[in-house]
Amino acid sequence: MTKVLRIAAMALLSMAAAASCRDYSPPDAPKQPIAFYHNVHAGDNKIPCMYCHYTADRSVDAGIPSVQLCVGCHVPASSAPTSLRGQAQLAFPKVKGNDSTWYNEGQKLVDYWRRGEGIPWVRIHKIPEHAKFPHYSHVNAGLQCQTCHGKVEEMKEVFQASSLRMGWCIDCHRGETPLSAAEEASVKARSSFVRKVNAMRESGGDVRGLTATYPNQRASTDCVVCHY
Ligand code: HEC
Ligand code: HEC
Ligand code: HEC
Ligand code: HEC
Ligand code: HEC
Repeated sequence: MTKVLRIAAMALLSMAAAASCRDYSPPDAPKQPIAFYHNVHAGDNKIPCMYCHYTADRSVDAGIPSVQLCVGCHVPASSAPTSLRGQAQLAFPKVKGNDSTWYNEGQKLVDYWRRGEGIPWVRIHKIPEHAKFPHYSHVNAGLQCQTCHGKVEEMKEVFQASSLRMGWCIDCHRGETPLSAAEEASVKARSSFVRKVNAMRESGGDVRGLTATYPNQRASTDCVVCHY
């Protein structure tokens, strides 16, 4: 009797553990050295994500823009950064009503630039050293940034919208995470895994081992693909 109860309790516990693993609640955004707002840049002003994170389609890292890239919009070379309030709207964030927050945050940018220092942004997303995540494989397969990072264009400050746990990676690789129709179509056409399976099928190869359990599989689930 006690044994039965213990097994039942263990089953309940492990179910609870599995469930709590999936219920991920995002932590608050960390405080950054400059209050840089994604909703202002990527939202209101519609600056494309890849204008700033321009290595996302060709490198493992999406990349964080340098001070030079900020300065390209905010401090035009033609004018010394002394009479900032007089510059064009794009050159420097306007003072909103009586609120000079934007102006003060922009001033911090100018100070880093003048000192020739990089901005010490606080890193938010980080998987452990034993695992690897190549941005280019995902971006070139046609996945949107928002599928993994949430609606960044609506966030004032970026927070980690997804758990980044192994189960989260595997669920999508197996084809169990819903994607938009456009993403689904592009993954079908562009994923090298899907292309390999299709080529094997066309040449009469046995693809059951690859597709029997997960017919909608999008990417490899071999340990060595993600682990060093
Ligand atoms: C004008 C430049 C710019 C644009 C446009 C921009 N970003 Fe960023 N992004 C940054 C900067 C600077 C940081 C580092 C500071 C921070 O975390 O807010 C950053 C940080 C991030 C991070 C967190 C990085 C980490 O440390 O883990 C993500 C995710 C991100 N951006 C995604 C996006 C997405 C998605 C879009 C488009 C919807 C976008 N960004 C548009 C400049 C930009
Ligand atoms: C492609 C042009 C462009 C780039 C690149 C750019 N910005 Fe901006 N930024 C803008 C525009 C447009 C606004 C809104 C200005 C306004 O409405 O007055 C803005 C507003 C701001 C503001 C005030 C609102 C807020 O986000 O707090 C700050 C601070 C700022 N930018 C910092 C930065 C930093 C730091 C970088 C580099 C990581 C950067 N910007 C890169 C165009 C740009
Ligand atoms: C399939 C999910 C996925 C997609 C799609 C994706 N990311 Fe990421 N992103 C991640 C993960 C996971 C990390 C953490 C990687 C690590 O720690 O090595 C990350 C980290 C980042 C970082 C911080 C570190 C770095 O790589 O520089 C930025 C910035 C970022 N992503 C921006 C973007 C942008 C912009 C896009 C779209 C062009 C995008 N991501 C698309 C999952 C994704
Ligand atoms: C939303 C779906 C999605 C998520 C989430 C996702 N991936 Fe992927 N991943 C893909 C797709 C699609 C490909 C492209 C497969 C291909 O081209 O063979 C891919 C490719 C890869 C590749 C390259 C595979 C190869 O054979 O070269 C690695 C490594 C990888 N993912 C690791 C990860 C890791 C680690 C995570 C979690 C931190 C993750 N992925 C999360 C969909 C996803
Ligand atoms: C699609 C990518 C992906 C694949 C495939 C994958 N892993 Fe992982 N794995 C991760 C990521 C990302 C982490 C780190 C996040 C976490 O701990 O959940 C991780 C973490 C781990 C950990 C550490 C767990 C911990 O609590 O520290 C072990 C052990 C592990 N994986 C083993 C495996 C084995 C064995 C396989 C093959 C059966 C495998 N992984 C396949 C992405 C992957």
